[in-house]
Amino acid sequence: MKKMEKTEKKVKRIGVLTSGGDAPGMNAAVRAVARTALANGIECIGIRRGWQGLINCDFVQLTRASVGHLLSRGGTVLYTARSEEFMTKEGRLKAVSTCKMLGLDGIVAIGGDGTFRGALELSRLGVPVVGVPATIDNDVGCTNYTIGFDSACNTAIECIDKLRDTMQSHERCSVVEVMGRNAGFLALYVGTAVGATAVLVPEHAEDFEKNVIERIRGAKLAGYTHFMVVVAEGAGHATDVGKRIQEALGIKPTITVIGHIQRGGAPTGRDRETATRMGYHAVMSFLEGRGDCVIGTQEGGIVEIPIEEALTMKKHLQMDRYKIMEIMQFGGHES
Ligand code: F6P
Repeated sequence: MKKMEKTEKKVKRIGVLTSGGDAPGMNAAVRAVARTALANGIECIGIRRGWQGLINCDFVQLTRASVGHLLSRGGTVLYTARSEEFMTKEGRLKAVSTCKMLGLDGIVAIGGDGTFRGALELSRLGVPVVGVPATIDNDVGCTNYTIGFDSACNTAIECIDKLRDTMQSHERCSVVEVMGRNAGFLALYVGTAVGATAVLVPEHAEDFEKNVIERIRGAKLAGYTHFMVVVAEGAGHATDVGKRIQEALGIKPTITVIGHIQRGGAPTGRDRETATRMGYHAVMSFLEGRGDCVIGTQEGGIVEIPIEEALTMKKHLQMDRYKIMEIMQFGGHES
């Protein structure tokens, strides 16, 4: 684990919040933070509604019992929000006042990059913060994995498997849009797992003719009678992709936007287990006198990265996996 400078201040009470888009496994992380804190004699306060809740002093005392039965629950019992007010200096100063009022020695902030940008600003005002990455997009640069990704992928896969049944029966083409914000991690993973004819991701969306039209045409020539195109929301809207397919090939695809369904549901085992380990390490970071970092997984192990550095780190879509996805269908392209 990356070593950070130690501070000597004794930690007596910490806050935990969830912020940004919810992700399956956030509750498991809250439970892990609370139980690790309590097991070490530290009080744990749940801050409701993310950074906005910190501004409004909106909190709930967490106990071992009150975080019971949370492992398998989707969403976040602490609620979440995207706070405009926290973007302002005045808002952040109000949040600092809440920390003083409640006697918080630090905050565990569970969310994505937006949450960690807020965390950095708060830590600059003297409140130690540890970030725990949770977003279905898996687009946080400092960690291989973000809580919620596996659950969201499995939800999308389940939806597309169902869709395939009817596409196959009617010999249709289907365009399915999945989430992911500006990243294609979710689309590529899902597209590979459902055996999509084509996957359109923002990182590789430049040649529509080659990446989509030619692939449907190739599948048709190879004898396929139904086609599944998975589009990452960051690569364009499913309706536009459908129109372009219709113009080029004369077939009218069905359009499905899976949308927020991907954010709900019980977390998978992977998300529960990862959230538990990350939540544990977040509290240990405070306890061992560090803080002001983001917890991540790298090569399977847990790491701590200083927040400022974490926010500069980039994670690229695995183009080797994209290639594998292409080859699985009917040999990929000559490049
Ligand atoms: O970051 C998670 C995410 O679900 C993205 O995939 C998506 O672009 C965005 O949040 C949707 O945000 P909202 O819930 O505000 O519509």
